[in-house]
Amino acid sequence: MNIVIAIDGPAAAGKGTLAKRLEAHFKLSKLDTGLLYRATGSKVVSGGGDPQDAQIAEACARALDPAELDNPDLRSDEAAQAASKVSAVPGVRAALLDFQREFAKNPPPLADGSPAQGALLDGRDIGTTVCPDAQVKLFVTASPEIRAKRRFKELQERGLEAIYARVLDDMKERDARDSGRSASPLAAASDALQLDTSEMDADQAYAAALDFINAKKLF
Ligand code: DC
Repeated sequence: MNIVIAIDGPAAAGKGTLAKRLEAHFKLSKLDTGLLYRATGSKVVSGGGDPQDAQIAEACARALDPAELDNPDLRSDEAAQAASKVSAVPGVRAALLDFQREFAKNPPPLADGSPAQGALLDGRDIGTTVCPDAQVKLFVTASPEIRAKRRFKELQERGLEAIYARVLDDMKERDARDSGRSASPLAAASDALQLDTSEMDADQAYAAALDFINAKKLF
């Protein structure tokens, strides 16, 4: 049986940290699907295009090379905003769907060459649209203020200038776009474990996820 773990939720809720720990613990191949949208958005912007231009955005999504996902520039806030815009274009979502499903079905081997025990995908619509049959679905969330605080701290630690009020506004703008779009909006699957990390640290979120997964006796 090919095991798939789907992790969804808004930006800076703690998905990435949780995903990394579960990836290592269960020996899974992980796909951060946000990178697909970030790479698409960045490709549009670097070509001088408008990320809301459906035709250009879809063409860039179709031309995406997985090797482009390793570019560290994709972590920037500019890339995040461009990603959020292209991700509302239905043609972009359709273009990226096959790649994500193929990854879930045939997860690539681990870094040491050994076979993966399954796939872990994190994003916004994995449990609802990309992998509705995933055996494990987690929906990780936290209040916008807490998420903005975490993001602000992270920017400061990276030596980047940031203003908290601006980070919070950007976060709310992105939330509204990701949840309000008609094509596959950010939403929790009905069978997902909801983890609100507002009052939880990374260890507590990981422990709750492990309990939920272990109870399913998949591994
Ligand atoms: O997870 P992230 O911050 O890297 O995602 C960047 C943007 O990409 C996010 O604002 C919405 C979009 N996205 C999406 O629409 N669907 C996904 N499965 C993952 C990301």
